[in-house]
Amino acid sequence: MMKKTIALLTGGGDCPGLNAVIRAVVRTAIHEYKWQVLGFYDGYRGLVENDYAELTADTVDDLLDKGGTMLGTSNVHDPFNFLVDGQKRDLSQQALQNLHDLNVQALFLIGGDGTMRSGEQFRQLGLNIIGIPKTIDNDLVGTDFTFGFQTAVKTATEAIDMLHTTAESHHRLMVMEVMGRYAGWIALYTGIAGGAHVILLPEIPYDYDLMTQFLIERRNKGKNFSIIVAAEGARAIGGHMVVQKIRDNSPDPIRLGGVGALLANELEQRTGIDARSMVLGHLQRGGRPIPFDRVLSTRFGAAAVEAAADEEYGVMVALQGTSIVRVPLQEASQGLKLVPADHELIKIGHNLGVCFGN
Ligand code: F6P
Repeated sequence: MMKKTIALLTGGGDCPGLNAVIRAVVRTAIHEYKWQVLGFYDGYRGLVENDYAELTADTVDDLLDKGGTMLGTSNVHDPFNFLVDGQKRDLSQQALQNLHDLNVQALFLIGGDGTMRSGEQFRQLGLNIIGIPKTIDNDLVGTDFTFGFQTAVKTATEAIDMLHTTAESHHRLMVMEVMGRYAGWIALYTGIAGGAHVILLPEIPYDYDLMTQFLIERRNKGKNFSIIVAAEGARAIGGHMVVQKIRDNSPDPIRLGGVGALLANELEQRTGIDARSMVLGHLQRGGRPIPFDRVLSTRFGAAAVEAAADEEYGVMVALQGTSIVRVPLQEASQGLKLVPADHELIKIGHNLGVCFGN
């Protein structure tokens, strides 16, 4: 086996388990194959600006349980649209030159849909790419789960458990807004795990009249509080997602946020029940990965190195069922994996009496 130099970067929003992947890639590459491993800082920024360090086995000690990423990350740097002095420029050739000068044979991209899309563009330019699916949103095509998602769900579920006491004591509606961008995975899993009475997903636009009726009926049955979990991308039928800010320099410039407050106001007025909202926000991306994510990250990292050892490039490692598989990057970088209308948890939720707003 020829000695290789591989490089890795973490792109997009941070996520529990990134460090565990870095550790798994570095350790497997060094212990098993004696390869050299380089890490670029702050995602594609480091690749374009040639800001990197060699990652030796020692540099990844004590990383397994740490949130965030030791390499730093960025969800605003796109090598094909790189902002320089206020102008967007295609600096992909610069990135390729840096990799060539460093004699890198394979680039490992640990990221979400934006990172994988740029990875696919690099693949088309002839680069050896291996993708590793990261995001708390769980919205990457080709994998049943991304690492980080289950940790975010645990954080959000614990938050609902805590909201219950105030909701019950004050007989209120409590609306909790969770992340997930255009996909409702975090809201769905958290809502089911936390026993929410109403779960609102971007995939199922909600009807205010129906929700009002549901909440009043609940109160009339003597249930004097309700918990509502709303995905940040949830929207009323015929309405729009609530945009919090636009980050012009980002590949996806829209930052969602604010639907929780909107829902609390509207539902308070319509039902006459005191309502409060809270936004869980970036807490969902923080903290230590739960064991499931540490194991998944480690499996992904090890599988990515095996793919490079097999010289099978242009793939993303993925979890399908209980197996780790390789899916073509071209497939994984197409669109988003949204919650299907016939998802098992939606059916189960309906049968349990949960209102999905429709
Ligand atoms: O993709 C992860 C995510 O946390 C989304 O759930 C959320 O919409 C977005 O990133 C927030 O991005 P930022 O860190 O730029 O506020």
